[in-house]
Order: sequence, then C-alpha cells, then structure tokens
Amino acid sequence: MSPSGPGSAVLLLAALAALLGVCSAGSDAPRGVALGFVFDPKATCDPPCEHAGICIRNNTCFCSRGYEGETCKYANCFPKCKNGGVCLRPGKCRCAPGYGGRYCHKVTCEGGCWNGGECSAVNGVAKCICPSSWTGSKCQEAICPQGCRNGGICVAPGICSCPEGWLGGACHTAVCTQSCLNGGKCISPDKCRCRPPFSGPRCEERKKSH
Ligand SMILES: *[C@@H]1O[C@H](CO)[C@@H](O)[C@H](O)[C@H]1NC(C)=O
Repeated sequence: MSPSGPGSAVLLLAALAALLGVCSAGSDAPRGVALGFVFDPKATCDPPCEHAGICIRNNTCFCSRGYEGETCKYANCFPKCKNGGVCLRPGKCRCAPGYGGRYCHKVTCEGGCWNGGECSAVNGVAKCICPSSWTGSKCQEAICPQGCRNGGICVAPGICSCPEGWLGGACHTAVCTQSCLNGGKCISPDKCRCRPPFSGPRCEERKKSH
C-alpha cells in the first residue's frame, strides 16, 4: 500500500485519534464523527504543512512518516546520520566532507586513494595512508629515492622517465649520438668536453701548436 493514498491518511488519522485518547463512541461510530473531533476539515495551517503533512487543526500539522517539526519541515533519519551528517530526506543523509555511506558512518577520501593507499581517519580527517614508495594526497606521486635529474620525471617507484639525450636511473648520463674521441667526455646531449690539445664537436681535431 502506498503511504500517501487517501486510505492510509484515514488510517493515520484514526491512529492519531487513538493516540490522543479521543476515540469517542467506539468502533461502530461513523468515521466522520470519530475523526471530526481531532480533524477539522476547515482547518488552515499557515505556514502550510510540508512533505505531505496534513493540516488537522488550525496551525497543527500531522506529519507523514519520516518528517517532524511544526510544519513537518524536517526529515528524520534512522539510524541517525553520523559524523555531522545532515538528514536530507527520510533515510538519506548528506555527509560532512570526508565521510560517506548511508549513515555517514564510513570515512571516505575524495577522489579515492591510488596505488594501494588506504583511506583512514587521522584526527577526524580523512587521509590516504600511502605505501612506502608513493606519496601525495592520493598517493598519486611515485617516489624515486635516487632523484630524477636533467628534467626527468619519476613515473613509478625508482623509475625516471628521461628527456631525450639523457639516460640512466637518475637521467644523469648524457648521450652523444657520435661518441667523443681522444679521451673526450660527453657532458650533455651531443656535447663533448675535450682533453687538450683536442677540440671540435667530437674532439677529433688536434690544435696546431707553434
Ligand atoms: C481556524 O481559522 C479560521 C481562519 O482563521 C477561523 O475562521 C476558524 O474559526 C478557526 N477554527 C478554529 C477551530 O479555531
């Protein structure tokens, strides 16, 4: 049965009459009489009853299930919303930041925790607890203990992605496409530092000494 049909409204009112102890003439009394005592069909409620509440007497609302307050304005939630959550409508909580679940009983980390991080409440604040090789608010940043140099980016624990021209675990080794000759050293991409008396892009020229 729908909770808002006219039949159920009558049932609700009969229940209310019983609650208030005003059931007058017994079960065979005409309904209108029994209900008329508490339910004034000409009653006006201003401000009006909300959420399908029924105005039973002037400025007296009979609230439908799940609502309370003088004008049935406020929803109530069972179980109550936890951790500062607000009851939006019966059984529906709006949770404070950091909490989730039907009754706001679960801690949640906005955006989730990545790479095996776990959401946990730390001093009442939701936080990702990251595994040792990850960091950042969502554990989204890998840790490269060796560091990534020369514009390299740490893309996974201990692994640098190096820009062109650099190699090595920390992008610390320059690449010279043509190797440096005569003991010269590749010091940056395609750049040799030559040992005297050599010079040239690959240290291939011997300076003439006079
Ligand atoms: C309810 O309010 C109306 C309008 O203000 C008034 O005419 C009526 O007499 C009131 N009824 C009762 C039972 O007080």
